[in-house]
Amino acid sequence: MKKVIIDVDTGIDDAMGILLAAKSGLCDILGITTVCGNVSLEQATINTKKVLTLLGKENEIKVVQGATHPLVRKPFYEFGVHGDNGLGGALEDMEVELIDEGFAPDFIIEQAEKHKGEITIILTAPLTNMALALRKQPKLKEWIKELVIMGGALDKAGNVTPAAEFNIYVDPEAAKIVFHSGLPITLVSLDVTEITTLSDEDIEKMQGNIIGEFVKNSTAHYLDHYEEVYGRRKCSMHDPLAVGIALDKSLVKTKKFYVDVETKSELCDGHTICDFKNKLKKEPNIDVCLEVDSERFINMLIETLKK
Ligand code: BDR
Ligand code: CA
Repeated sequence: MKKVIIDVDTGIDDAMGILLAAKSGLCDILGITTVCGNVSLEQATINTKKVLTLLGKENEIKVVQGATHPLVRKPFYEFGVHGDNGLGGALEDMEVELIDEGFAPDFIIEQAEKHKGEITIILTAPLTNMALALRKQPKLKEWIKELVIMGGALDKAGNVTPAAEFNIYVDPEAAKIVFHSGLPITLVSLDVTEITTLSDEDIEKMQGNIIGEFVKNSTAHYLDHYEEVYGRRKCSMHDPLAVGIALDKSLVKTKKFYVDVETKSELCDGHTICDFKNKLKKEPNIDVCLEVDSERFINMLIETLKK
């Protein structure tokens, strides 16, 4: 079974990504690492614990806290999309206990050394923890099997600024380190996640257990946001899609390109530049998702969460 670590800033779609991985039966989750992103580090950790409690796995899967802020920038939260508690107001009354399990970058290094060549890290948040781990242990390049990253907007507009996608925008310096690490990377950008959407009808099909109920409660806010901003009552499955692709690569067609991140521009910070036409003549470093079978993925999500 695939060994995975999931790195999250648990907002609504991260929560669904965790649910998908945990219920899929296709991977062994060695741990979940948290980082500041959609919400503060502490809130992301609380939310992750709540999601694991829903699954009855709060004592089984470790949650390890990481960076409280991006490498050099201030935190940038996304309450407008994910609501004040990051879960669209869902699970507000659930109490969870936070346990000190160490520091996320160290946990990544430890696990990678223990399971050399076996671990897939799924990153659905700003890349701060991964960058810190790479800085501390350059051998990670040989120890980790692959990274699957939700982030970037390659041939599409951004979702925080016209140029940048949230996870890369929040910590572009970290993204630069990770993109140039030499690790095999699959990048799941807005180009494929924004066309992979969930509707009220799909959510109805998931009803029947507490997971379906949670999805319904948490996505109500998310759907309102999409209706208001994008003019469609269908929400993008950014983070769940990254999890889905990590578990089943046949959901996407990919191609390797040179991809870099802008870090020094007033208008374009966090922009992911993909050299589609090989103008820079640089060695391709990232496997970019070009096409996705959204319908098959949404069915996989519904069936898995309904189980
Ligand atoms: C990404 O930003 C966050 O708000 C989501 O959780 C997702 O990881 C999409 O741009
Ligand atoms: Ca996220």
